[in-house]
Amino acid sequence: MTETVLVVDFGAQYAQLIARRVREAHVYSEIVPHDITAAEIAERRPAALIFSGGPKSVNVEGAPGIDPGVYDLDIPILGICYGAQLIARDLGGTVSNTGRGEYGRCDLTVLGREVLFDHDDAHQSVWMSHFDAIVEPPEGFVVTAASADAPVAALENESRRIFGVQYHPEVAHTPRGQALMERFLYVAAGCTPSWTMDSFIDVAVQQIREQVGGARTICALSGGVDSAVAAALVHRAIGDQLTCVFVDTGLMRKNEGDQVVETFRRHQGIELIHVEAADRFFEGLAGVTEPEAKRKVIGELFIRIFEDAKASVPDAKFLVQGTLYPDVIESGTKHAAKIKSHHNVGGLPDDFDFDLVEPLRALFKDEVRQVGSQLGLPDEIVQRQPFPGPGLGVRIIGEVTPDKVAILQEADAIVREELHAAGLERSIWQSFAVLPDIRSVGVMGDERTYGYPAIIRAVTSDDAMTADWARLPYEVLESMASRIINEVPGINRVAYDITSKPPGTIEWE
Ligand code: XMP
Repeated sequence: MTETVLVVDFGAQYAQLIARRVREAHVYSEIVPHDITAAEIAERRPAALIFSGGPKSVNVEGAPGIDPGVYDLDIPILGICYGAQLIARDLGGTVSNTGRGEYGRCDLTVLGREVLFDHDDAHQSVWMSHFDAIVEPPEGFVVTAASADAPVAALENESRRIFGVQYHPEVAHTPRGQALMERFLYVAAGCTPSWTMDSFIDVAVQQIREQVGGARTICALSGGVDSAVAAALVHRAIGDQLTCVFVDTGLMRKNEGDQVVETFRRHQGIELIHVEAADRFFEGLAGVTEPEAKRKVIGELFIRIFEDAKASVPDAKFLVQGTLYPDVIESGTKHAAKIKSHHNVGGLPDDFDFDLVEPLRALFKDEVRQVGSQLGLPDEIVQRQPFPGPGLGVRIIGEVTPDKVAILQEADAIVREELHAAGLERSIWQSFAVLPDIRSVGVMGDERTYGYPAIIRAVTSDDAMTADWARLPYEVLESMASRIINEVPGINRVAYDITSKPPGTIEWE
């Protein structure tokens, strides 16, 4: 059985990061909400618990707490920031607002090397973010580190295997943070660093076989990373029982449709129904200019076409979905205002009569990429940037026509090629071209031109919730611009979008 570490989330920005760090130490981890009961935790038999930070003071009413029964389960616990304060408070210590919080880089002095620290840690720089501080440790705890304004910056009770640190070992600004996490995991909790992508694939294959049995299964491939990796993994598990459906909307980037067919049919040997539906999408989009209306047309058509295609696999009982871990933990807590209705082409309605197979539910995006590479998918698919479900349909302002798609595909390909040539691909979240619904006058070879501008959009981001325009070198922008104008008929001007998100969005529609 896989050893699991549960990260108890007290509303931290960092709970996901903590789970990542544990996995980087090759121990599997998952996030659970703080209202989980001690009995529920006991049932899952975790190898250890980590209490995350949180935005509140443990002393205010309504501050998130934990079922006190967890302290008696004899499971090793590490509390981080708020988590450490909660442990201190719950077990009889004192936490108070000393009037001297610490925010940012701080010097830590290690007082005792019991379990969590070793010789290299004696004086180290750590990242703090707290206004309250533990002023009195609970009985039975030793104070093992202090900083200027946190007299109890680390504490431990070795016999109960309960530990706390006021600082954030999970962030990159705490250089020795991962070493501390590893000592907690390996020394205090006795975990073995055995969780790897190979072991993940073996376990997932086993689980998929158990779930699906001998039944037929289908998967809608969008060309994106998640559905591609999910399909390859399910295929590894059940082979010919899987049929993929690829609805080519005609709104994908240059050569992308061919690449999906080539990869899945030829290289992976997966049975693939390739529906070339560009004409139907262009017909549906004729005369439609309003962004939300376009999304609606594309989403509905996709579902209708997928339904037709699935009729050729009448006995299919299971549907593969590329749901990822962040989607799982965020669902239910998302209350952001609707800015755009996101259609995941490949995201299907709830009333489908299928059981879902979601083999990537436990993974973060970069872990999915690793699994994809391990399964032999090419870099062009595995390292792909996010791409909106409605595709180029939302990057062409105004009516979407085959001519405009052809122009945009060429311009967009140049943007991506030049970024790749400059070695900047990995540092950019998304980079693409947009085709607005205006034309301007220019002059080329003594001739007056009247053509479209191409707008280059390149952003940096961590999660697409906020983004900044990428400071691309002028030379890169210049080669993009001159190639687009020289190589793409119909375009006579290039502009660069320097809007961050907010106030802009990443896409133009
Ligand atoms: P915006 O434009 O809202 O985009 O800043 C945030 C991220 O979501 C992607 N995006 C979509 N993805 N279906 C999708 O699957 C959609 O309809 C859609 N619209 C935007 C966008 O590319 C960016 O990564």
